[in-house]
Amino acid sequence: MTDLDTSPSPALDQRDVRREAMLAKIADLDAEHQKAVNAGGKYIERHHARGKLTARERIELLLDEGAPFLELMTLAGWGTEFTIGGSTVTGIGVVSGVECMIIAHDPTVKGGSINPISMKKTGRAMQIAEENHLPCVTLVESGGADLPHQKDIFLPAGRGFRDITRASARKQPTVALVFGNSTAGGAYIPGMSDYIVMVDGGAKVFLGGPPLVKMATGEVSDDEELGGARMHATTSGLADFLAVDERDAIRLGRRIVARLNVSKKGARFTGPYAEPLLDPEGLLEIIPTDLKEPFDPREVILRLVDGPSETNEVSFDEFKPLYGPSLVTGWARIHGRPIGIIANAQGILFSKEAQKATQFIQLCNASDTPLLFLHNTTGYMVGKEYEQGGIIKHGAMMVNAVSNSTVPAISILIGASYGAGNYGMNGRAYDPRFLFTWPNAKCAVMGPQQLAGVMEIVARGAAESKGVAYDEEAGAATKAFVEDMIEQQSLPYFLSGMVYDDGVIDPRDTRSILGICLSVIENQPIEGNLNFGVFRM
Ligand code: COA
Repeated sequence: MTDLDTSPSPALDQRDVRREAMLAKIADLDAEHQKAVNAGGKYIERHHARGKLTARERIELLLDEGAPFLELMTLAGWGTEFTIGGSTVTGIGVVSGVECMIIAHDPTVKGGSINPISMKKTGRAMQIAEENHLPCVTLVESGGADLPHQKDIFLPAGRGFRDITRASARKQPTVALVFGNSTAGGAYIPGMSDYIVMVDGGAKVFLGGPPLVKMATGEVSDDEELGGARMHATTSGLADFLAVDERDAIRLGRRIVARLNVSKKGARFTGPYAEPLLDPEGLLEIIPTDLKEPFDPREVILRLVDGPSETNEVSFDEFKPLYGPSLVTGWARIHGRPIGIIANAQGILFSKEAQKATQFIQLCNASDTPLLFLHNTTGYMVGKEYEQGGIIKHGAMMVNAVSNSTVPAISILIGASYGAGNYGMNGRAYDPRFLFTWPNAKCAVMGPQQLAGVMEIVARGAAESKGVAYDEEAGAATKAFVEDMIEQQSLPYFLSGMVYDDGVIDPRDTRSILGICLSVIENQPIEGNLNFGVFRM
């Protein structure tokens, strides 16, 4: 197969409109990200005045110079009662040449205490670290549980400590650099870690601080005696290294990581590669402002994948291009690494598309090739003809293939992601290794108008069966309310706020992010599976 005809598919005048609309969404996204950066507000200044570095400054110093940091779940907590960011900063970065999961408490937000959103975010970070066998470096400064919300976190939070110890048992290293408070439950974060560095005069690690000890036993003591870094380095033995200051702790942390002897078990890099055939900047011009309008996903694919080169004859090698045209499948490379791509074309998934996807997923498993899903689907086709044609069993076949596929997968919501189409395209519930969302995307059980329309039909039916008149005015108000609510709940910030994705990203960053993810994935062996459940043919 050759690369697609690269003539522009949206009309040129449409391209400007789409570009402006996408740029406005990206500007808005930047503003929301800035809220996470400034989450500490006035406490950032106080923190600096105490001679301390912020979570982001600590991360910046920890990373190799010039190395990228893939920040994850930046908008966690958006639209909730909690501060955007969930009082933590987390992401994947390169430390002493090693890709690491970094989790940093943000002491400028509620003393770095852990609320339900922080817990969801750090839990997901630990899951990513586990699946990709990443060493985990935690930058500790936390007042422990967010006390007013203790009921929502106390019991599930135990899982966090369990995760650290299980990581250790898997030989997935855990390093804690303790800069400040690490109280009560928080004391177990370093306590469970393989390596502990504490900052002299800064770290305070105790099960109970002086007031609590006085209340419990009557003993009078101070912070240093109870949990100071020097005491832990010389007396209790909890600290392995005593750092003279924060920068020294970071230096020691980098030294620890350098000696971990980490190696990649699934390396698939094929050598030098070419930049994409089409300019990624053009991604801004492809997506219609109304997601009901279809667009050609090949226009997206050719801006994400490597261009042709000596070792890569065609940039996108399409599979079954003449069969099930509402879904595009094919092979490509990204940053020199092979990938199988599944992308929706016309929004709707029909039987042929589901069968084609199933076969393609099997082929990628047979060749140990990671998968990339590009979502723009309104779901599986409904209607008499399609039900009679077996759309349920064909959709189930695709969901079965996605569920039992074992090659690493990455999902990107580039448009709509509705209904069971989200499942078949490897939505969050199917545990893709990474899932990112473009700022124009929408995701829900169905579109707001359809959902509100279904509710109206149900309400009319209910009124009729009770023998009462349907209240048109109240019905219209309810419909408008439901439509608006579902629209809001379908938006990327809302989903990111609930930690249903790993981040909302600028489409132009997609290729770089995929490159990082594919490199991270290689830390584990890449092994496909051909043992699927029963396929109902
Ligand atoms: N839960 C909820 N909120 C907390 C918190 C916690 N564990 N720890 C601190 N905060 C809040 C404070 O109430 C304050 O909120 P405000 O801005 O609305 O006034 C904000 O965080 C800053 O606290 P502050 O004490 O001014 O910050 P600090 O940097 O001087 O000290 C701590 C931070 C963590 C050392 C200190 O707040 C503390 O000791 N907290 C209690 C720790 C504890 O005992 N935890 C038990 C967990 S099981």
